Amino acid sequence: MGAALPVDVPSSPDAALPGGVPLPRDVPLPPDAALPGGVPLPRDVPLPADAALPGGVPLPRDVPLPADVPLPAAGHHVLRLTGVVRRFGGMTAVDGVDVTLAAGERLAVIGPNGAGKTTLFRLIAGELRPDAGTIELLGRDVTRMHAWRRARLGLSRTFQVANLFGRLSVADNMRLAIQAGRPSGWRSLRPVRGADDVATSALDTLAQVGLAGRQADPVASLSHGEQRQLEIAMALCTRPQVLLLDEPAAGLSAGEREMLRRLIADLPRTLPIVLIEHDMSLVFGLADRVMCLHQGRPVVVGTPDQVRADERVQAVYLGRSTHA
Ligand SMILES: Nc1ncnc2c1ncn2[C@@H]1O[C@H](COP(=O)(O)OP(=O)(O)O)[C@@H](O)[C@H]1O
Ligand SMILES: [Mg+2]
Repeated sequence: MGAALPVDVPSSPDAALPGGVPLPRDVPLPPDAALPGGVPLPRDVPLPADAALPGGVPLPRDVPLPADVPLPAAGHHVLRLTGVVRRFGGMTAVDGVDVTLAAGERLAVIGPNGAGKTTLFRLIAGELRPDAGTIELLGRDVTRMHAWRRARLGLSRTFQVANLFGRLSVADNMRLAIQAGRPSGWRSLRPVRGADDVATSALDTLAQVGLAGRQADPVASLSHGEQRQLEIAMALCTRPQVLLLDEPAAGLSAGEREMLRRLIADLPRTLPIVLIEHDMSLVFGLADRVMCLHQGRPVVVGTPDQVRADERVQAVYLGRSTHA
């Protein structure tokens, strides 16, 4: 077959786009990635009927949509992590995390680089399996459940490294995310048919993130901030019940960060959110509760005021002046 992926880049078999399209997640594909010789990657080619994930796991074709998943009542947990541990070789990246996310809650996860924040997200999303502990999503034990199945249950995430198809239009990226969220997702992927056949709901979602009227634009022509807005739209268009945002403000200008803060603030209060972020105005402006991780362990979990004032947080994180 074509060019092999770089073998030294760690990848997980369960990596997935919002909605569960399996992709080698740890390989941050540049938007315009091409095969040697400049041949564009075959993104729009329909998959063969028997396409499978590595290991022979069949692609999620006929998984029922989560219409039957009962919505957690107010005050109930949508997400519960108990004693979650994840090691890489001799290093413990996540070291016994207990945390819950209540219905409608916004939880921020902060901590220095290498604290284990992204690893925690990958464990929640199902891209990694914990070495110990359990993860419950919407009342189900999903500890060993595949990422695409968790996505079907209503878990949606964005990534620290943008993951958009730069040569495709805004509408086509939305279409891919929507189709990925359907039981027949892969089967219905087909060459692009133009911008008008995007569902009205996708146009509504684009408007919700401030990208009204941009559906025909190539993604590569969007600003950095607009690409973040699109990523959030793609995460939202599967109508998630829990949203994970990994450093959405990274690399954005002050103006773009403020736009993003408003966008997230305006999301429905019924949608529970876990937000990893270094931008403290976003964290303290958006979160109901903040967890500070250090060396894989929660140092403090509390209200923004409690966390801001906590000496341990000051010591491991807030006292620092720069973050890569
Ligand atoms: N796939 C992996 N293989 C080996 N080590 C990893 C892998 N992913 C993360 N790590 C290590 O785990 C630690 C936590 O990383 P990460 O969760 O990315 O931190 P954060 O997102 O808080 O910056 C770091 O020391 C990182 O090098
Ligand atoms: Mg990270």
